[in-house]
Amino acid sequence: MTSKLVLRGENLSREFISGDTTVTAVKNCDVEISANEFVAIVGKSGSGKSTLVNLLSGLDVPTSGTVTLLGRDLSALSEKEMAELRARHIGFVLQKDNLIPSLTISENVAAPLVMGGEKLSSALERAREILGQVGLGHRADRWPSEVSGGEAQRAAVARACVGSPAIVFADEPTGALDEENGKRVREIFRQLVAEQGAAGVIITHDMDLADEADVVITISDGETSGRVVKGA
Ligand SMILES: Nc1ncnc2c1ncn2[C@@H]1O[C@H](COP(=O)(O)OP(=O)(O)OP(=O)(O)O)[C@@H](O)[C@H]1O
Ligand SMILES: [Mg+2]
Repeated sequence: MTSKLVLRGENLSREFISGDTTVTAVKNCDVEISANEFVAIVGKSGSGKSTLVNLLSGLDVPTSGTVTLLGRDLSALSEKEMAELRARHIGFVLQKDNLIPSLTISENVAAPLVMGGEKLSSALERAREILGQVGLGHRADRWPSEVSGGEAQRAAVARACVGSPAIVFADEPTGALDEENGKRVREIFRQLVAEQGAAGVIITHDMDLADEADVVITISDGETSGRVVKGA
């Protein structure tokens, strides 16, 4: 079976200039990710994981190289086109500060659906359903300031997945979670990838999460190596 290519990064480099030194955070990386693939990105702190994911998801622009996401060359998109692509097809979980403080937990989770044109009432209904799946049904009406860090992280995962995006990027989504809640979050990602044909690109130090991935990309000093395809 050949799966549909969702994301391709070609010869990607990203340099940061601070003072008179240049840091090459990502160096000549090639990445290919298909639908139905759950990809874990692993590597030491400072190795370039977040930088690489920011480039692949269009949050940052490479110094050189190209990113093709869902068949579109990201460098050719206007800001508006990029925003639309993001709202419709991409889910994100950042390392922290994911939620909008002036919206309740359920409103935060419903937001991508509402932005995509869905009616508020049905969006909130779907939000409550997915919140239940991550064990947060009882927190739906709270404000982000009234939930714990781990609960906020799970709500962010729910929001990233609620609109059935073609691809979800997550930076350490289980970092702040205990065993049971980490398992719930892994379950949500697995469902999204296995049942809905999405691609999942997840930075993690969580070996249970990496073990569940189909592909493990290792990054060291900005260079990727070993696209290890499990079960191949
Ligand atoms: N905006 C920036 N300006 C200068 N250097 C940066 C910037 N962002 C990242 N770097 C540098 O690029 C390298 C890679 O950083 P990155 O954040 O991608 O690492 P990481 O693998 O995500 O680490 P962690 O596991 O700690 O989150 C580091 O040396 C970092 O200091
Ligand atoms: Mg990081």
